Amino acid sequence: MKAFPIADDARRPYRIALIPGDGVGPEVIAEARKVVDALALPVDWTELPWGSAYFHEHGRMMPAEWEEALRTYDAVLMGAVGDPSVPDHISLWGLILEIRQRLDLWANLRPARLLEGIPTPLAGVGPADIDMLFVRENSEGEYSGAGGRAHSGHPHEVAVETSVFTRAATERVLRLAFELAEGRRGILTSATKSNASRFGYVLWDEIAAEVAADHSGVRYERILVDALAARMVRDPASLDVVVGSNLFADILTDLAAAIQGGMGMAASANVAPGTDAPGVFEPVHGSAPDIAGQGIANPSGAIWSAALMLEHLGEREAAGQLIRALEDVCRDGPRTHDVGGEAGTVEVGDAVAARVGA
Ligand code: NAD
Ligand code: IPM
Ligand code: MN
Repeated sequence: MKAFPIADDARRPYRIALIPGDGVGPEVIAEARKVVDALALPVDWTELPWGSAYFHEHGRMMPAEWEEALRTYDAVLMGAVGDPSVPDHISLWGLILEIRQRLDLWANLRPARLLEGIPTPLAGVGPADIDMLFVRENSEGEYSGAGGRAHSGHPHEVAVETSVFTRAATERVLRLAFELAEGRRGILTSATKSNASRFGYVLWDEIAAEVAADHSGVRYERILVDALAARMVRDPASLDVVVGSNLFADILTDLAAAIQGGMGMAASANVAPGTDAPGVFEPVHGSAPDIAGQGIANPSGAIWSAALMLEHLGEREAAGQLIRALEDVCRDGPRTHDVGGEAGTVEVGDAVAARVGA
């Protein structure tokens, strides 16, 4: 991990790339940038205009040399990609999925915590009951990209989508999840579907049991993913760290986002611990074309993602300050419509920035 301690006068500014992307992406990223600027850290921002508009101009979502370009940054703060004018599998495989795979950002960390002042749709629970950390395998599984189609348009047309589970990728993400559980409440829940799918998830369960044996301080539990979905609604307080495959944790983190107040609240970090690859920090939500351009998107998930970025860069104090400012604003307002308020995106960003600077 790259860290430039505050005390070091000779430190150079952080080089952060911004990929605002499509839809509400630029709206929420502008607020995330604003709150980081309010911290007065040395940051050099570079805005990369990649996304669907870039696609219409250049025939691709980002330039061919994107990888060399991104590797020169310390981190990437991203909004969202996806626009009704470009098929989703083209836009996503042309940008975020390509970046996650090629930079081997194998861990996707998604905290799901209910902040005070934010309404949850679950009855009878409050902030003390909802504090989960999802650890998503982010490099393979159901998102391997392997497969194909044949006999286009014929009655016997076929599509094959292959899941790939390797021991190496499964073990590294499980080890990380156990380590993170050690630093939290000590409970690790691993979700698979090894009753119906009898190869990849069975391997996953076997490796989980092996890694559990090395972490006796962690209470390890294996659960079928369908049962976990129900338990997240019935008893979220029983969950601490949850680890799952690429697709399962994708689906579960939209459910988790709903439980923590909505898509606009949820944050994520795509990282490759132990390497030099720049992490990509982005809210869990997509480009939300239904509300784009109206100035009403909730910037909290993007702001929280910026805090995860600062933490990853070694700026723990600044990250804590930012989270506390976000907590204050969620508790006291202003809040956006999706979380029961009447404010716009900019008003919320301004309020968090003002608290950070206070
Ligand atoms: P979405 O997350 O964009 O929207 C789902 C619902 O949540 C919508 O009702 C939307 O208005 C609401 N919502 C999302 N973000 C919000 C915010 N910040 N504040 C308030 N409400 C918010 O998911 P979708 O509609 O399934 O996907 C839209 C597009 O985004 C698709 O093209 C999809 O592929 C893409 N997508 C991209 C990413 C990414 O870039 N990381 C993630 C998810 C979806
Ligand atoms: C997410 C998104 C992406 C995913 C899509 C846009 C490919 O839903 O980051 O959660 O499924 O990983
Ligand atoms: Mn998702």
